[in-house]
Amino acid sequence: MIIEPKTRGFICITSHPKGCERSVLNQINYIKSKGKIDGPKKVLVIGASTGFGLASRITSAFGSNASTIGVFFEKPPLEGRTASSGWYNTAAFEKEAHKEGIYAKSINGDAFSDEIKEKTIELIKEDLGQIDLVVYSLASPVRTHPITGIRHKSTLKPIGNTYTNKTVDFHTGKVNTISIEPSTEDDIENTVAVMGGEDWKMWIDKLKKENLLASNFKTVAYSYIGPQLTEAVYRKGTIGKAKDHLENTAFTITDSLKDIGGKAYVSVNKALVTQSSSAIPVIPLYISLLYKVMKEKGLQEGCIEQIHRLYTERLFLENTPTDSEGRIRIDDWEMRADVQEKVSELWEQATTETLPTIGDLEGYKTEFFNLFGFNYDEVDYDIDADEMVNIPGLQ
Ligand code: NAI
Repeated sequence: MIIEPKTRGFICITSHPKGCERSVLNQINYIKSKGKIDGPKKVLVIGASTGFGLASRITSAFGSNASTIGVFFEKPPLEGRTASSGWYNTAAFEKEAHKEGIYAKSINGDAFSDEIKEKTIELIKEDLGQIDLVVYSLASPVRTHPITGIRHKSTLKPIGNTYTNKTVDFHTGKVNTISIEPSTEDDIENTVAVMGGEDWKMWIDKLKKENLLASNFKTVAYSYIGPQLTEAVYRKGTIGKAKDHLENTAFTITDSLKDIGGKAYVSVNKALVTQSSSAIPVIPLYISLLYKVMKEKGLQEGCIEQIHRLYTERLFLENTPTDSEGRIRIDDWEMRADVQEKVSELWEQATTETLPTIGDLEGYKTEFFNLFGFNYDEVDYDIDADEMVNIPGLQ
């Protein structure tokens, strides 16, 4: 079928298998161009099909020759209906890994459920024995709690006061003012239940109980801080409470891993265009200004560059550098004073008229469509593409 992008709100409901393959190949080529990494050998990536999780899987496999099991929640294709992009990304990743004799298998289902945890544990037992890294990179709007059965929904709201600021609809380029009403206590609790650290700890506890964690095992989850501009709606909002919880959970997990010399880290990553971040109000405007400034200063990175730096300059060093709160920081270039001062200055000037020149709205749009396999020069979108792509190692 001929596959074209179809957007609904901030998501794209179609995706292109050839374009997703292009995106994965670009990331693999980047990692290969950087040479071998003295990193992990047996890796579980939870949230492995897009964004930072996919980049972590690619970096592990093609940088460090690691066997990987990837867990994700993606829509398979049907005749005449495309799969979600994470499906095609995984198919392309596995195809390339298998070509090079690198073990890669995948599990598609709800990572919050006991069923998927058990299925993953069985696969690790059968194929890998003990693993030395778990990357926890889930971004989800909902979680059904495996014990209570309650379905929690996360929200992106300020706490205490209404938040009013500029935002952009990146499809039309229109800069508008939005106001977001403050959260209730329930919103906070629900967001912490979905995006906090409870599920991460459940995974590690279960894996440890089954003796599947190697000595000196590491686990890393991803967090975000960001600038003052977005603080009220992000870091000091409901999602920030969940990130506080996730960051505190790293200490609890580390305590539970003492006997095997294991350690849990949170890495604070840079703001990037992913399916999750496009859904957050205000962030697309911030990112389009940030990209402009970071590109001008030669500091721009995508998920793959970020994770490569995480592996080679932080996580697998003898002494992992952290901030005063014990967090790894690879948002250091985003947070540089000169970058943030320039972004704040541009923020004041940003209007529908000025944004195309002072911000990188085109870059934002291109990256957004790239997430779904569109807008790649190397792909011919006018020819038929087979939507019925299999993931070879899907369990
Ligand atoms: P993403 O939307 O690209 O990836 C999310 C992944 O989670 C996908 O593999 C998806 O299939 C999987 N997933 C979602 N619900 C699932 C479920 N119930 N069961 C199994 N898999 C499920 O997201 P992104 O942006 O890569 O985010 C990953 C982490 O990085 C999040 O914790 C996010 O807060 C954090 N982060 C993101 C930043 C950004 O700017 N995008 C910046 C810093 C941190």
